[in-house]
Amino acid sequence: MDPKLQGPAVANTTKRYLFAFSSFLFACLLAFILQIFFFSSISPDPLELPPAAASNSLYPTNNHLQSVIKMGEGFLKDPEGVCVDKEGILYTATRDGWIKRLHKNGSLENWKMIESHTLLGITTTMAGDLLVCDCEKGVLKVGEDGVTVLASHVKGSKIRFADDVIEASDGSVYFSVASTKFELHDWYLDVLEAKPHGQLLKYNPSSNETSILLDNLCFANGVALSGDQDYLVVCETWKFRCLKYWLKGELEGKTEIFTDNLPGGPDNINLAPDGSFWIALLQVF
Ligand SMILES: *[C@@H]1O[C@H](CO)[C@@H](O)[C@H](O)[C@H]1NC(C)=O
Ligand SMILES: *[C@@H]1O[C@H](CO)[C@@H](O)[C@H](O)[C@H]1NC(C)=O
Repeated sequence: MDPKLQGPAVANTTKRYLFAFSSFLFACLLAFILQIFFFSSISPDPLELPPAAASNSLYPTNNHLQSVIKMGEGFLKDPEGVCVDKEGILYTATRDGWIKRLHKNGSLENWKMIESHTLLGITTTMAGDLLVCDCEKGVLKVGEDGVTVLASHVKGSKIRFADDVIEASDGSVYFSVASTKFELHDWYLDVLEAKPHGQLLKYNPSSNETSILLDNLCFANGVALSGDQDYLVVCETWKFRCLKYWLKGELEGKTEIFTDNLPGGPDNINLAPDGSFWIALLQVF
């Protein structure tokens, strides 16, 4: 090859490669920016959490969970909550649509089939039925004679992502909606967005109406009533805290922090026999 021609030819090829490469980079960057600012399904806020508490003094490490007995292993698909009826039968709702129960003699039974893959919190009622949260339908009532929808709408909007439910002795039903924006299958987007889309709702059985008690909760999860039913505790998972909502007395309708800066995201909550609460924590980050 003529050495005079070689120089410019190589330079041209290099230029072309450089041009192609920078166009490619530019296209990537553009796609990235468009995705983030225009097509992203979330519009995130920074999530600010207080510094972790000195966990060893507040929550000394123990290995109690190492000695739990695993019940129904291999028989239960993603059970979310549990409840126990007056006879001591334990119930749970699984993601394959079953309400399963464990008899006192240790035998597990597929009790009721509900055509749903989105069952979450479950509780017993005074009348002997169960209430189950279904992320698609709302709050369901399940009894020996079938399934009915108890609450499906609030203020004209469909209730989605009902998460946990509890019945008070006056028949009122309190339940949480984890997110009004995201659904069960993309719940993590709610955490990423870090905006409060959760609610605490009340179903009134005499009027057959549902109302909003609290709005702007950060992934409203477990709900539980105090022993005297003078207040209710609702967990805000990615705020690592639980709120106390007063139902009776001077503070009725007021909200305060029940516990915060927990070492994990509070999920389910249940009243313990001694009047304290059991809170299940999950590792969010
Ligand atoms: C356990 O109790 C349930 C309910 O009484 C009954 O249906 C079941 O057959 C019992 N199972 C065994 C193994 O005894
Ligand atoms: C209660 O309201 C729901 C709508 O949210 C409706 O579907 C249902 O039939 C009503 N039940 C009664 C007993 O009126």
